[in-house]
Amino acid sequence: MMNVFRAAGLAVASVMGLVLAGCSDPQSAADTGAYQSGSPEAAAAELLKTMTLEQKVGQMIQGEISEVTAEDVRRYGLGSVLNGGGSFPDGNKHASIDDWLRVADDYYRASIDTSGGNAGIPIIWGTDAVHGHNNVIGATIFPHNIGLGAARDPELVASISAATAREVKATGIDWIFAPTVAVARDFRWGRTYESYSSDEALVASYAGGMVEAMQAEGVVATAKHFVGDGGTHTGDDRGDTRLPLETLLSVHGAGYGPAIDAGVMTVMASFNRWNGDKVHGNKHLLTEVLRGQLGFEGFVVSDWNGIGEVEGCTDASCPQAINAGIDMVMVPEDWRAAINNLIFQVQSGAIPMARIDEAVHRILTAKIAAGLMDRGLPSKVASAYRDQVGSAPHRALARDAVRRSLVLLKNEQQLLPLDPGGNYLVTGPGADNIGMQSGGWTISWQGTGNSNADFPVGTSIFSGLQQQIEAAGGRVYLAGSVPEDVSIDAVIAVYGERPYAEMQGDISTLAWQQPDFVDLEMLTQYQEQGLPVVSILLSGRPLWVNREMNASQAFVAAWLPGSEGGGIADVLLRAPDGEVQYEFLGRLPMPWPANDINPDDRELPVSTAAFPIGYGLDSSSQVTVAALHEETLGQPISTDRPVFAGGPRGPWQLYLGNELDWAVASGPRGGSTLDDQLTVSVIDYQVQEDARRIRWSGDEGRPSQVYFRSDTAINLTDMAHNGGVLLMELRLGEIPEGEVTLRMDCTWPCSGAIDVTEPLNGLEVNEWHRLAVSLDCFKAAGTNLGRVDVPFLVSTSGRFSMDLAEVTISEVADDALVMRCPRSDTAGALAGGM
Ligand code: BGC
Ligand code: BGC
Repeated sequence: MMNVFRAAGLAVASVMGLVLAGCSDPQSAADTGAYQSGSPEAAAAELLKTMTLEQKVGQMIQGEISEVTAEDVRRYGLGSVLNGGGSFPDGNKHASIDDWLRVADDYYRASIDTSGGNAGIPIIWGTDAVHGHNNVIGATIFPHNIGLGAARDPELVASISAATAREVKATGIDWIFAPTVAVARDFRWGRTYESYSSDEALVASYAGGMVEAMQAEGVVATAKHFVGDGGTHTGDDRGDTRLPLETLLSVHGAGYGPAIDAGVMTVMASFNRWNGDKVHGNKHLLTEVLRGQLGFEGFVVSDWNGIGEVEGCTDASCPQAINAGIDMVMVPEDWRAAINNLIFQVQSGAIPMARIDEAVHRILTAKIAAGLMDRGLPSKVASAYRDQVGSAPHRALARDAVRRSLVLLKNEQQLLPLDPGGNYLVTGPGADNIGMQSGGWTISWQGTGNSNADFPVGTSIFSGLQQQIEAAGGRVYLAGSVPEDVSIDAVIAVYGERPYAEMQGDISTLAWQQPDFVDLEMLTQYQEQGLPVVSILLSGRPLWVNREMNASQAFVAAWLPGSEGGGIADVLLRAPDGEVQYEFLGRLPMPWPANDINPDDRELPVSTAAFPIGYGLDSSSQVTVAALHEETLGQPISTDRPVFAGGPRGPWQLYLGNELDWAVASGPRGGSTLDDQLTVSVIDYQVQEDARRIRWSGDEGRPSQVYFRSDTAINLTDMAHNGGVLLMELRLGEIPEGEVTLRMDCTWPCSGAIDVTEPLNGLEVNEWHRLAVSLDCFKAAGTNLGRVDVPFLVSTSGRFSMDLAEVTISEVADDALVMRCPRSDTAGALAGGM
């Protein structure tokens, strides 16, 4: 058999070394002398012969670091752990490199300690280093894949893979869940930015080099998610890809051939369905196609609780998935039950022993080929890589990638590049916000809850501009700080999508900010002052921004550039001598939509382009972009303004507060007031982490509030005319002890509050309810609906708890219970009938 791993440039496990490695621990499996034969496959086969069923099953299990202790690894012989997005050693977001290494060493020592009966095989740790080692504070954050697709440079992406692998090595981690070779076809998909391109040929041209580069650094790579992730109907994350096999493979499978040729050691199965069936349970795809047809010889890992999504399965039990070809089960929490179930299913015959042997053989082969058996303590190897994390060369590489990824879509009168000696106003929510420019999968899972201080080596777009403009004698101001006597030469507006990741990033139309157009208002305001406007759009996908484009003289699609914001200034500004410093080299990796939806069938992707794939101007292009049409084609699906659905939506952020600090931001894992009087935690309702548990302890008796706020107020007057309501889906954990108020603010102290104690008292505890309050009630209570910045605030001082699944401002109350407006001094009561 051809050795699949040789091509990867990995030293095929130095077979002698395996024996030597065992010396430090006489009981380690590495000491069995099983490795005298010549290939990892043969060595794995020898090792397999010595293993019990329990030991084999242990190798097939991958738990999450917050759910698996070193002692668990010793006792159960787990083959692998992962850290999920936003999961860190000891749950500490600010964990140091030493913290990561300590945990890696602990797991390693436990894995080779056979005193608990495990096989003594080194554990393998996997991580989502999908744009740099993005869970680690201080790591270089590279542009997300979509921007690298715009760069159209296979060598650049291979260098980035290598750099990322070196940063990963510095933390003692062995395995990266990348590259993603998805081919995004409907940009409503929330993972579009994880796709390099909608053109499968471009994705395929990157795949091999990335795998090779990563594995040459001694880190195991993963091609994911097999197969069809980017092709789901309506762009639904984890949805259904409805295609004939041939197209499924030629489009969405295009990256796998080159990845396999390059020796990729693992493939991750995809959450999506194919023509109705979950891929995780599909033997035809996972075995016949992936192995038989495409020749993959490594091991298949399931996605996060992915087996649980197969019909008839749970997270901890799915013989179909194992029989279909899943070799290692990513079962973050329920791994104990998964072990027991697997053992039982082998004993009962539901899973043939031969299938277990095959899976474990593949896992062991990969571990041996990756050199894990003779590597020793993770921290020892890591020490040589320590200075790689956020290193100057890596940041320079990232900055170069940012420059190459920028796509210039419009440049009237060749406004760009700008003279660095001029006076500029830099504005917009993304101007000085490294978290926003980095997107999802950055420190936290959804990329939310980060501030500039979380990027000790990063540069915001504003500070990148500031450095160069001030050095050239120009002046640059953030909005609100322009002195009266300064005249501005141009406005640089940085706006776009707030961070999101899987599931929570799905949208139903490509129209940007419908119906509020907050960013557009900002642009028009400057346009009306006669100032030239340069738009820098931060987004994880092409968006329908015709209005914003018409309101800008120059327009740059900057995607999600990551921590090196200085790369934007490099291309946006000329050198002080007037020369172009860096040309705009980015070309669209996906077509830019001419419409918000597909007019023929809104379930299909938009198929008309304002700018075709491959488009992009350079600074000398003299192209005038005719005004783009400004009408959305579909009636907006609804006029609803979601405030919270799955997570905070649009411009809304969740805060907690009381007199000790009125605005404590609730992060991706929740938060609490300084006195812990009020806490918010993240819970699962319909999907993972889509609801919040809000608890008032009542201990301090201090009025404490939870609320959603936006930096820009919105106008709800029309909504109110049309019968608008504030809709809430909630479940009481207990009846409130004291008085509870519901408030809507028009920038405090402008506010309207209503007493909701009585209606809440009337609700059944532990049941979900949909409640609605007419916007007019708030108006009557004092809210100026013309400028609402806090649409929902709940305050109480006594003990109380509730779960919140949704907050929406809507014109229709649908099935919700509509609360009566409180009369003069009485609390709101639920209207009869409902
Ligand atoms: C984890 C992510 C994972 C996601 C899957 C999150 O809690 O942190 O790594 O991808 O769940 O649903
Ligand atoms: C994602 C994968 C990721 C895994 C581990 C899943 O939810 O789909 O891309 O590698 O979680 O975090």
